[in-house]
Amino acid sequence: MSQSGGDSSDERGRAEDEQVAAPSLKSSVGAAHARILGLGGYRPTRVVTNDEICELIDSTDQWIRERSGIETRRFAAPDESVVDMSVAAGGKAIAQAGLQPEQISAVIVATVTHPLQTPSAAADVAHRLGATDAAALDVSAACAGFCYGVSMANDMVRGGSAEHVLVIGCEKLSDFTDSYDRSTAFIFGDGAGAVVIGPSNEPGIAPTVWGSDGSQYDAITQRASWIDVRDSDIEFPALTMQGQKVFRWAVWQMAPVAKKALEAAGITADDLGAFIPHQANMRIIDAMAKTLGLPAHVPVARDIKDTGNTSAASIPLAMERMLETGEAKSGDLALLIGFGAGLVYAAQVVRLP
Ligand code: UT7
Repeated sequence: MSQSGGDSSDERGRAEDEQVAAPSLKSSVGAAHARILGLGGYRPTRVVTNDEICELIDSTDQWIRERSGIETRRFAAPDESVVDMSVAAGGKAIAQAGLQPEQISAVIVATVTHPLQTPSAAADVAHRLGATDAAALDVSAACAGFCYGVSMANDMVRGGSAEHVLVIGCEKLSDFTDSYDRSTAFIFGDGAGAVVIGPSNEPGIAPTVWGSDGSQYDAITQRASWIDVRDSDIEFPALTMQGQKVFRWAVWQMAPVAKKALEAAGITADDLGAFIPHQANMRIIDAMAKTLGLPAHVPVARDIKDTGNTSAASIPLAMERMLETGEAKSGDLALLIGFGAGLVYAAQVVRLP
């Protein structure tokens, strides 16, 4: 009996045979675990004091110190780019990992201040470092960008899509800050920090706890889009920030995220060798450390004092500082948490390189 549509049993049989004969796909196989193999930072040479910032805004050195904990920050030179700073930090991280640039299979640059919409900073960074043929992309997750990159690199190494991933957090915020806006001019700085993430016999990066709250999209944003700039006679669209709103969110919402990251790692605060939060504001850092109930023996990164808030670069720069000063040691467990524009956040426990 023929079927409607002319699908005879012979034809059905052939279709089934063809399905059986279809080749199966290969799946990538990665390393059992991943860890940070090398670390490098780059701080521009020019030190900018609060007094210099106050030449253009109605503020004081004392107000900036009390409200943010910042005493000085670094600004890149006019001709020093996000790519230049990324290459400097990335080269150090590759050398510390004991690798050659051509062994890097992917480059992730977390940044919101690369001044070209396209191409990415990462493609140029990979080329300039000699990471020939590496996959390259930028990540726009603001001050959480470094932790986002670490999470992605961890999964790439374990999933088999890359063996060694260079993750860079880099910002030239001095280019995107209105130096006459007293709600932002004093807080931001420039710099770059990088890590190489690769295969490991032991887990070196615990699960990431991450997410977003786009209902607060306007809390930190550019004043206008590039389309507005094209279509109307407006000034450069610098960053704006509703400081108090972000402050409250960070203090109340981020400590629970950090706690979840500890749980996801299967450790307690007592096991930590360092707490390295995004260097947003010294008061936020202190409030988070208190809410987390960190034991007195766990050192807390306070790099913001003379670095300012460098967004995606702040965590790797603070990590490098803690290792250089001996506050934290190679092999220690460190709790990282980044949070910022989006609003977005990410936290994870890592073993320090
Ligand atoms: O990195 C990405 C995420 N970003 C953050 O996490 C930043 C979070 N926010 C902050 O760190 C803080 O909100 C700031 C440091 C930006 C500002 O500190 P604040 O304690 O929240 O200051 P405020 O905005 O509440 O202002 C307090 C007072 C106001 O005066 P009144 O209304 O009390 O008379 C402001 O007008 O301070 C005044 N003010 C200033 N005074 C001197 C605001 N900015 C300044 C200034 N100098 N630069």
